Amino acid sequence: MKRVGILTSGGDCQGLNAAIRGVAKALYGEFGTDVEIYGIRDGYRGLIEGDYKLMSSHDFSGILTLGGTILGTSRQPFKLMRVPDEKHGDKVEAMKGNYKKMKLDCLVVLGGNGTHKTAHLLSQEGLNVITLPKTIDNDLWGTEMTFGFYSALELATQVIDCIHTTATSHGRVFIVEIMGHKVGWLPLYAGVAGGADIILLPEIPYSLDSIIKTLDQRDKSGKRFSILAVAEGALSVEESEMSKKEFKKARRKLPDPAISYRIARELGEETGHEIRVVVPGHFQRGGGPCSYDRAFATRLGSAAARLIADRNYGNMVALRNDEIVPVPLSDVAGRLKTVPADDSMIRSARNIGISFGD
Ligand code: F6P
Repeated sequence: MKRVGILTSGGDCQGLNAAIRGVAKALYGEFGTDVEIYGIRDGYRGLIEGDYKLMSSHDFSGILTLGGTILGTSRQPFKLMRVPDEKHGDKVEAMKGNYKKMKLDCLVVLGGNGTHKTAHLLSQEGLNVITLPKTIDNDLWGTEMTFGFYSALELATQVIDCIHTTATSHGRVFIVEIMGHKVGWLPLYAGVAGGADIILLPEIPYSLDSIIKTLDQRDKSGKRFSILAVAEGALSVEESEMSKKEFKKARRKLPDPAISYRIARELGEETGHEIRVVVPGHFQRGGGPCSYDRAFATRLGSAAARLIADRNYGNMVALRNDEIVPVPLSDVAGRLKTVPADDSMIRSARNIGISFGD
């Protein structure tokens, strides 16, 4: 009998249930009745506390199009994993203990960056681990794509589309803040797809003067409105020259709740434009997966089951050159996939006149 534990960890995203279903159906296909799948609740929290249940094949039916995760999720910071607390002691030891108690042959982990650091640690500690890359940020090293990205992109683009009509009516400047944590894939693609005039990314520090110049040029050419797609992790040229500590201190001093409000305040003071801010936030992670994510998550799930059958543990299933391949967790853990300055999407955007505020 094969015993497989499965958990979803970190921020949720669209396609988690499609991926869980893919893993489960492919495992049943591979092992028939000779496999037991244990659903671990709320990510690593469930593994730490021994909160899990034996799933049946019915649990995995009808969930392909469902948003969120049927297993629940939570954020368990990697840096605290080895810091003992009263309730759990050393959390890594607690997880190892429950893995043994459950008599697992393998743990399947669906997660993003933080999750992969812990998955790698568990693998180093002797657990058989297979991971799937999920996050709307698409910032995981080793894979060209993560599931969740395209669904979030659709929603972020829809927001910019809707803002166009009201921005035109009123002749206003709008700032739409797009998620993506410390990387710019989502704001870049949503900005281009939504026809933003200015896109600000964490990878390309902005100068206020450059943004003002672009707004002036648009005014002079008779354009009634302007739309900025701003990454939640965007930062100014001055900030990019600060140490991490200085940066945090400077940000704490600001009165604004988010970067887009700060840019709106500064632009308003300098230009007199009527500026509005839209922060769609977690809306971008909500609802069901788009068709790409459903199909992609299913492919990843099926590939994960194959790795389990082959006992090829310690890997993430990744997309490379349109093939799903195993990538060692040691290559993935702790590495961010940022947007390169010469990325072809950035070049295309520049070619059609989109400014990056640099
Ligand atoms: O990693 C996904 C993400 O949505 C990021 O884009 C965002 O910065 C973060 O999670 C928000 O985290 P939380 O859901 O904990 O507020």
